[in-house]
Amino acid sequence: MNTALSTASRRPILELPSELISQIAAGEVVERPASVVRELLDNALDAGARQITIRLLAGGVRLIAVEDDGAGILREQLPMALKRHATSKISSLSDLESVGTMGFRGEALAAINSIADCAISSRATGQSSAYLLDGRSGELKPVARSQGTTVEVKELFFSTPARRKFLKTDATELAHCVEAVRRQALARPDVGFCVWAEGKLIEQWRCCEGPQALQQRLTDVLGSEFMERSVLLNYRRESEPGSGAASVAVWGQVGTPEAARARADQQFFYVNGRFVRDKVLSHAARSAFEDVLHGQRQPVYALYLEIDPRRVDVNVHPTKIEVRFRDSREVHQAVRHAIEDALAAPRLGQVAAALVSEVETPQIAESGSSNYARQSGMTFAPAHGHRVSDLGLLWNASPAAPESSEETASSWPLGRALAQLQGVYILAENAQGLIVVDMHAAHERIVYERLKAQLGSHGGSARLSMQQLLIPATFAATETEVATAEAHAETLQALGLEITVFSAKTLAVRAIPSALAKGDATGMARAVLTELSEREASTVLQRAHDELLATMACHGAVRANRRLSLEEMNTLLRQMEATDRADQCNHGRPTWRQISLRELDALFLRGR
Ligand SMILES: Nc1ncnc2c1ncn2[C@@H]1O[C@H](COP(=O)(O)OP(=O)(O)OP(=O)(O)O)[C@@H](O)[C@H]1O
Ligand SMILES: [Mg+2]
Repeated sequence: MNTALSTASRRPILELPSELISQIAAGEVVERPASVVRELLDNALDAGARQITIRLLAGGVRLIAVEDDGAGILREQLPMALKRHATSKISSLSDLESVGTMGFRGEALAAINSIADCAISSRATGQSSAYLLDGRSGELKPVARSQGTTVEVKELFFSTPARRKFLKTDATELAHCVEAVRRQALARPDVGFCVWAEGKLIEQWRCCEGPQALQQRLTDVLGSEFMERSVLLNYRRESEPGSGAASVAVWGQVGTPEAARARADQQFFYVNGRFVRDKVLSHAARSAFEDVLHGQRQPVYALYLEIDPRRVDVNVHPTKIEVRFRDSREVHQAVRHAIEDALAAPRLGQVAAALVSEVETPQIAESGSSNYARQSGMTFAPAHGHRVSDLGLLWNASPAAPESSEETASSWPLGRALAQLQGVYILAENAQGLIVVDMHAAHERIVYERLKAQLGSHGGSARLSMQQLLIPATFAATETEVATAEAHAETLQALGLEITVFSAKTLAVRAIPSALAKGDATGMARAVLTELSEREASTVLQRAHDELLATMACHGAVRANRRLSLEEMNTLLRQMEATDRADQCNHGRPTWRQISLRELDALFLRGR
């Protein structure tokens, strides 16, 4: 028998000393100096601060001081602030269920005080004097200061050396502290933040007012590059149609696919003003990018979700970084749609529009840069109301409207086709200069969007319309391919493919989707069969559908080396202008680039 266990089982049950309880709580709440910074900032914001100053020494290990100009704490209340389970923020279960403050557990200061040397000085609103409380001795003495509170935390983890050992270098801890401030600063543009390290001012974000406050703060904190490569997002979902009351609202900035990064270090999600890391939210964002982002690239965004506090539980994690939504489906859908909508709007309009600004603001318009469109509030509308027919493939579509007067051609964002280069690129002229289009990539996107639209966005019972082949295309098939064709006949039909067994080792493609009528029938059939064989028939859901459609689009899209007439090229350009997400192919690569006259002049050393 295990002696340790038998001894332990004979020990009496005792209540833990208060200090130890706080230290245990601190183990959950305070992982590193940045956690203290976050807690103190939460408190300052809850106190209504407009200006917050953070001072750090040795990455926060030697000192973290957070000073605010908030409501302050009354003298007689100061000792309570350091008590466990003492809070001014909630007093009942119903308060907890609809909590609107950052803090509510009433344990942060007690926990921090149990593992560091703490002091709080404060002057409450309307009081003529200020007091300082020493967290160790409990001594209270008058001090001079203006309204607000300063909490000083020194020698973090001095009493828990095991914990201190886990800390990284000062520089790393400092970086985490600054990141903690950045997260809060992005949530509160109306509050000014200053960060000092080793006596030097290292970050300063002034408080921003007015309708552009958030945009200004995002620019200050994340840089103008983030803003230039992101689009505005503003989405409301009404709880009941017509009620006007939003059950979920999402706004912020979401980066274009080209702004994606190797690391997920610019993904900021806020729920009712609180920075969170949530699987539902990040999955929703990820899936909104599925169509336009390839490989392991990480999207960038700063997104703010507002939801009735009763519909989200914030009391699920000691550091409040996780939340639980009552209806996570609703939230997932809202976030996904919000991002999809924002990304879908073609950004081609900016090319034409940038013309106007070219003189004052030299900038190279580039696929994915939304700068002009954003500044001007301009959205793209197909030139002259010219709509490309939704049916028919490039070459059997009606030719582009022959309204190619100089004026009209220069107002088309993607310009007028000039030539085809090496069977791969289309060269076109717009008023800004030269446009180069990767014709396969661009056409692939157009076909894909068309297939998705036909099938209905949620993989419902809709079917792709079929076109029978005059002469069935037969090909030598593997046993797996034959078996898959038989087993998935239904799904194939829905995808507009009719593939029958011709002989034990031969399959015949009898019909293909009419939208892909000129595509490579056997190549498409084989690719779809391969994908289907890797899935359960019953799990060919939305995601699988999209992948299958992308595969089909790839086989149905115009191949390199296919000669196009100028008319066909122009048709493709006009289709791109009218297609959602046309700036990227299905794999996230750009479909077109602008080379401005300015750049061409520079190439030829033509001075201006
Ligand atoms: N900067 C501040 N200004 C004014 N009051 C403060 C400040 N910091 C703390 N307090 C007061 O001290 C109390 C205790 O703070 P503490 O952070 O320990 O708990 P809390 O914020 O209520 O909850 P949580 O543990 O979730 O943070 C607060 O409820 C608040 O009344
Ligand atoms: Mg708190």
